[in-house]
Amino acid sequence: MEPIIVTEHLSKSYRGHILAVNRVSFEVYKGEIFGFLGPNGAGKSTTIHMLTTIIRPTGGKARVCGFEAIREPHLVRKNVGFVSQDIAVDEALTGRENLALQGRFYHLRTDVILHRVQELLALVDLTDRADHLVSTYSGGMRKRLDIAEGLIHRPSVLFLDEPTLGLDIQTRHRIWEYVKKLREEQGITIFLTTHYMDEADSLCDRIAIIDHGQIVALGPPGNLKECIGGDLLSIKLVPGRWDENALQRDIASLPGVEKVSPGPDGSFSLIVQKGESAAPGILAALGEMGLEIQSISLKRPSLDDVFLYFTGRELRDEGADNFHRTNIALRRARSQ
Ligand SMILES: Nc1ncnc2c1ncn2[C@@H]1O[C@H](COP(=O)(O)OP(=O)(O)OP(=O)(O)O)[C@@H](O)[C@H]1O
Ligand SMILES: [Mg+2]
Repeated sequence: MEPIIVTEHLSKSYRGHILAVNRVSFEVYKGEIFGFLGPNGAGKSTTIHMLTTIIRPTGGKARVCGFEAIREPHLVRKNVGFVSQDIAVDEALTGRENLALQGRFYHLRTDVILHRVQELLALVDLTDRADHLVSTYSGGMRKRLDIAEGLIHRPSVLFLDEPTLGLDIQTRHRIWEYVKKLREEQGITIFLTTHYMDEADSLCDRIAIIDHGQIVALGPPGNLKECIGGDLLSIKLVPGRWDENALQRDIASLPGVEKVSPGPDGSFSLIVQKGESAAPGILAALGEMGLEIQSISLKRPSLDDVFLYFTGRELRDEGADNFHRTNIALRRARSQ
């Protein structure tokens, strides 16, 4: 497979001490949808900004479409499209006018612009609303227009920073469809960042999980989940007089059990080989130990579990999501 993005120890520190991205090395292959998954502040936008030459790395190297991000930024820019975390369309113009304006920024010929605008409007299903002012568009329509703008100069790589942030679930699914269509119909390589696990899981061929500026895991979503080495069985016991450490050891010795982690209030998280067939035996053994079970659940690992496994923390952070929504709302209010 041919790499189209290559980074080597790529780093960025702000004001000399905030190490936002810390020596990340990875490759993105031509034609793949590659995801950067991580919590707020992990360094996702900073990485994208370095790869699109918006900011200069403070260490390491990045090659994008065969060009050095530090030495040949103008050549990188010609070959990449970038859709930022904040929607950047002009509300006072129509969808068609926004796209045409973007084409002029790239000094495209008028006949080329006319043709591409038509093509892109169709691609993101905005042909019917093309001549309406963007101020009348929904959030999802604005984001689709924003993505189309990133494509006006036919880039080989499209960078999408949090493409579905703050959108409702149906709109998010539609955006995923457009992203897949882009890759299928135009063969474009897509690099996206997200802190939604389901997004990374269903959209990306490979994912890098980033935390505190460092890549903690990289691979196809399925392989990352397999790293965990089994299914997840959660058991909550009715409170009783048992010793947590002794019980943890006893559970760990049961057939099929790979790992046991105690949780709060008599709960235990188990990693179990072939969960469906092992669970009945485990429950029976607990019964024989005189333990009463309040609840159980068995599931295949999700990317959230992968994140937890590699970092010891949960990725899901509703508070952060609300924080983002508030931020977007504030920015919109300010710009009006
Ligand atoms: N211009 C800046 N000056 C100083 N620190 C910054 C600057 N931009 C980002 N940082 C810091 O760098 C770190 C990484 O930020 P970055 O925006 O790359 O994270 P992110 O993964 O995109 O987060 P989010 O999910 O919130 O978008 C954070 O600690 C952030 O506070
Ligand atoms: Mg960001």
